[in-house]
Amino acid sequence: MINVAIVGATGLVGETIIKVLEEEGLIKKIRLTLFASDNSHGKLLTIGKIDYRLTSLNEDALRQKFDYVFFSAGDEVSKEWAKKFVKSGSIVIDNSNAFRREKTVPLVVPEINCENIENTPKIISNPNCSTIQLAVVVHRLLEISDINKIIVSSYQSVSGAGRPALSDLVLGTNKFFDVKIQNNIIAQIGGVEENGFCTEENKIMFELNKILGTKINILATTVRVPIPYCHGESVYIKFKNKVDINLIKSALRCSHITLLEDEIAFPSIVAGTNQTYICRLRLVKEKELMLFIVADNLRRGAAYNAVETFKRLIKFEIKNK
Ligand SMILES: NC(=O)c1ccc[n+]([C@@H]2O[C@H](COP(=O)([O-])OP(=O)(O)OC[C@H]3O[C@@H](n4cnc5c(N)ncnc54)[C@H](OP(=O)(O)O)[C@@H]3O)[C@@H](O)[C@H]2O)c1
Repeated sequence: MINVAIVGATGLVGETIIKVLEEEGLIKKIRLTLFASDNSHGKLLTIGKIDYRLTSLNEDALRQKFDYVFFSAGDEVSKEWAKKFVKSGSIVIDNSNAFRREKTVPLVVPEINCENIENTPKIISNPNCSTIQLAVVVHRLLEISDINKIIVSSYQSVSGAGRPALSDLVLGTNKFFDVKIQNNIIAQIGGVEENGFCTEENKIMFELNKILGTKINILATTVRVPIPYCHGESVYIKFKNKVDINLIKSALRCSHITLLEDEIAFPSIVAGTNQTYICRLRLVKEKELMLFIVADNLRRGAAYNAVETFKRLIKFEIKNK
């Protein structure tokens, strides 16, 4: 049996990883251990009919020789623990920002660049949620023409910032955010960095090119909006060559994308699915396209992406045994 651990199992991403593992019928095939913070130590989490006892991370965890460890407990926990697990023999799939910029760490969206896991890297980074949904769409469009420029403005749900942020939306408090998020929008996600862009914007601008192996000029504005789940993105794309709208539509019709031609992709429809939805497709001039993308940040933007990577890693290992 494959020995798997989830660090951050009680968080929004961690609980969604568990859900996706269940949906994929994988829970029965793995021996699962769940870690969270000291606050959750000793509590029970029931999955199916089995009770799992949560523990906090300590050096004993490293002796349990996990084959795979999902990390979804934030940058600091990943920085402190991921490499220790690697040293003890585990492969780490990390949802945090801790290693995404490291040259030797692949940033994987399985439908795009899963060949990057074939040289069995020890740490695999899951990209940022707002990057993944943009990447799956841009990847398909690159089949038609090179792209010179992308301008993206995001409408990001509160769950993207974790459970304490979601509580602020539900309760009308501002314990996590500096201001109340209810009836509000916050046009900056993370601190402003040296180039004038905020952290979330720089993540999209760096990560998209790393995943696609491109040097596209990408400009992002990221905004937190008061909805619980799903990120929306208004996207402008300037192609290098003239493009045909019918070719674009056929490139965008694939198993992991839902293209809506006459409807709107409401978060209320998209939430709970693993699909990337596209609506409002407009070819403005022969080289310029506008569209709106919506995906569930906890699934497509995190848990589903991580579990799909995990599935491919297992398959790859079995093939090479
Ligand atoms: N939310 C998203 O849409 C999304 C998308 C992509 C990537 N991510 C990334 O995924 C990670 C988790 O995000 P989230 O939204 O799930 O956050 P969250 O809901 O706040 O959950 C955080 C989890 O980390 C655990 N934790 C905190 N400190 C810990 C420690 N010292 N040792 C072990 N576990 C600890 C918490 O346990 P307790 O419950 O015991 O406190 C909880 O299980 C973050 O790095 C985030 O950037 C999130």
